[in-house]
Amino acid sequence: MKELNRSAKTIETLIRARYPLLYIVSFEENRVDENLRGIAKARNKQLFNWSITNGLELNDGSFITELKDPIKVLEYILQCDVNGLFVLRDYHPYLNDPVVVRKLRDVAHSLKTTMKNVLFLSPALKVPVELEKEIAVIDYELPDKEELSNIIAHIAESVGDTSKLEIMKSPDQYSKIVEAALGLTAEEAENVFAKSLVQKGQFDIKTILSEKEQIIRKSGVLEYYHVNENMKEVGGLEQLKIWLTKRGKAFSPKAREFGLPEPRGILLLGIPGCGKSLTAKAISGMWQLPLLKLDVGKVFSSFVGSSEENVRRAIQTAESIAPSILWLDEIEKGFSGLGSSGQTDGGTTARVFGTFLTWLQEKKTPVFVVATSNNVSQLPPELLRKGRFDEIFYVDLPSKEERQEIFRIHLQKRNRDVTQFNLEKMATLTHGFSGSEIEEIIVSALYDAFDKDVELQQAHLEAGVKTMIPLSQTMEEQIRGIRDWAKLRARRASDIEWEDETGAKRQLEI
Ligand SMILES: Nc1ncnc2c1ncn2[C@@H]1O[C@H](COP(=O)(O)OP(=O)(O)OP(=O)(O)O)[C@@H](O)[C@H]1O
Ligand SMILES: [Mg+2]
Repeated sequence: MKELNRSAKTIETLIRARYPLLYIVSFEENRVDENLRGIAKARNKQLFNWSITNGLELNDGSFITELKDPIKVLEYILQCDVNGLFVLRDYHPYLNDPVVVRKLRDVAHSLKTTMKNVLFLSPALKVPVELEKEIAVIDYELPDKEELSNIIAHIAESVGDTSKLEIMKSPDQYSKIVEAALGLTAEEAENVFAKSLVQKGQFDIKTILSEKEQIIRKSGVLEYYHVNENMKEVGGLEQLKIWLTKRGKAFSPKAREFGLPEPRGILLLGIPGCGKSLTAKAISGMWQLPLLKLDVGKVFSSFVGSSEENVRRAIQTAESIAPSILWLDEIEKGFSGLGSSGQTDGGTTARVFGTFLTWLQEKKTPVFVVATSNNVSQLPPELLRKGRFDEIFYVDLPSKEERQEIFRIHLQKRNRDVTQFNLEKMATLTHGFSGSEIEEIIVSALYDAFDKDVELQQAHLEAGVKTMIPLSQTMEEQIRGIRDWAKLRARRASDIEWEDETGAKRQLEI
């Protein structure tokens, strides 16, 4: 028999331990079915598949169509005397029905002493409160390297003459192709590999990665970034950079041997436009790890499926491409209504938050979480408790030196010779400006110069400053609030010195 993957092994253990109700969350019916057949065979059990359209399929492939009714099939399971696994596909809509729920409690109770198990198989997880204690939930993992490798071999075979395929000549190339497809379901991977063969006549990494990017984006709340941004594009934030450099080394097996724990994650808090999101992307470049961005705001909008599934799927995808980075942008947007969740959304927010926190605390796979937020007052206190993140960093408005660096970075990015500008002066003029406001100044100065048909000059930049009122003026109160909050609870992302209102350097009181 084929070696079972981790999820299938868990299922097998639960079956042996006589868990009466299992809930397998997966889109991949065929893949799960194949593994369940393996388990059934190994344990000498019969496998029954139920669906609302076919009724109950018996081991020999025949159907009992009278059992299409969701209650009738439960009654059948209760009374029949077999050693069997009953897989109920897409049963979740019926779990809203109080009669079904009651019946299932009876089933759970009665099956404990039999050799029968009921397995729900569905892409959506809906467990009514009454059954929470009875049902064991398994998020069925996506294909691992070995499974993907089998798929490639299978597709390559179908081509016929495999000697034309470059990956067959290089094991290194082969494993890169396999890794590029991690995070996809078996079917998606098959399609992507086939498409690459048709388009390029080869298994082509770029094609596979860009297809993967699109597939993941289609899920609605996740975005996949292949490593691109670089720490060199981030001005200042020296303390954070030092911290990250140290942790970057800690993913290696050597670090494990040395006794280091795997880095779990950081929370970046601070003032809007100061480089939190930019840093999140740059970490992926620094550590050469793929990045998944979860739009926390979207997770809770009803347009893109249930928020619970969204979070589970994000975690699952991040784990399947691990080592990886999971970036939760604007985390306050999702978890701010936590206190009132029971009254306003039937507790969904609270439950999703719970799922996430548990995972954060207990995760075993190397997924580094970067959470960003600019509204500390809306963050639930549980998130800030020790042990959730390795560190909480506070990203302040840039200091004078940092502003100078940000000017340099953005001018260079636009192919300007920085020696032609007095950047120190620009940094002095822009006290209280954020990184994104500095970028805006440069862009508007470029527009000016282009309009006048001249090369960009210092004067354009200086004029740009005058036309802009920085956020730090319009939001003075809020910014003071964030600073006061952060002084006690977070570590500064920038060097320990900071500027006070008059521009004088001060040592930060810690
Ligand atoms: N420290 C910095 N170095 C270089 N560029 C910066 C820096 N801070 C901000 N920028 C520029 O401003 C843009 C916006 O910054 P970013 O999106 O990272 O801000 P943020 O802190 O995430 O803000 P928000 O809280 O509004 O999400 C960046 O894409 C970058 O071009
Ligand atoms: Mg941001």
